[in-house]
Amino acid sequence: MSSLQDGKKPHTMVFMGELLSLLSVITIISSGVALLAGVFLIKRGERVWHMRAMLAASGLATLFLVFYLWRIGIGYSKYYVGPAEWRSAYFALLISHTILAAANLPLAVMAVLNAWRGLRAATGNLDAIDRPAARSYFNRHRAWVRWTVPVWVYVAVTGWAIYFVMEHWGAVRGA
Ligand code: HEM
Repeated sequence: MSSLQDGKKPHTMVFMGELLSLLSVITIISSGVALLAGVFLIKRGERVWHMRAMLAASGLATLFLVFYLWRIGIGYSKYYVGPAEWRSAYFALLISHTILAAANLPLAVMAVLNAWRGLRAATGNLDAIDRPAARSYFNRHRAWVRWTVPVWVYVAVTGWAIYFVMEHWGAVRGA
């Protein structure tokens, strides 16, 4: 929590900004854990639990987005003040994280949308996913998740890493 106490930003806004950062990192990491649980469950053939885990992962990722946008909305952000030799590595991390986090939204929407349409075509019965009408949606679902899962995991892990770096080597912007 460097440079937090003596800046011009009011204490309540610093408190709110730090709280929202903490909630963001908790929700993004939890969504990554739920995602990996969902992958594990589908590998074991647990389709209903897979669906539940993935809906939980999506809900947590949506909460992350709310906390993130809220923090940006109140104008709370930090910049890097750590060792100069690590600056480029940090920016590579930040830029790749930001681009892939933006890409993750349409990827996840397409994955869930195709799963949802497949579930409807299987008349709500996850034992009937091989009916021709449902099969084509689940094939598309599989094609989307091939990209969605690795991108999501990368975003969750780097989100935590950025939070960690900012807690140690971050200064509040405008403070
Ligand atoms: C963003 C959310 C989701 C992600 C990232 C995801 C990820 C995955 C993954 C990694 C697989 C295994 C693919 C493979 O082995 O090639 C899979 C299969 C499957 N998913 Fe999801 N899933 C999501 C949401 C859902 C939802 C909401 C449902 C509910 C209907 C669902 C139903 C299924 C089914 C039935 C399969 C098996 C498909 C088959 O055997 O062809 N998924 N999903």
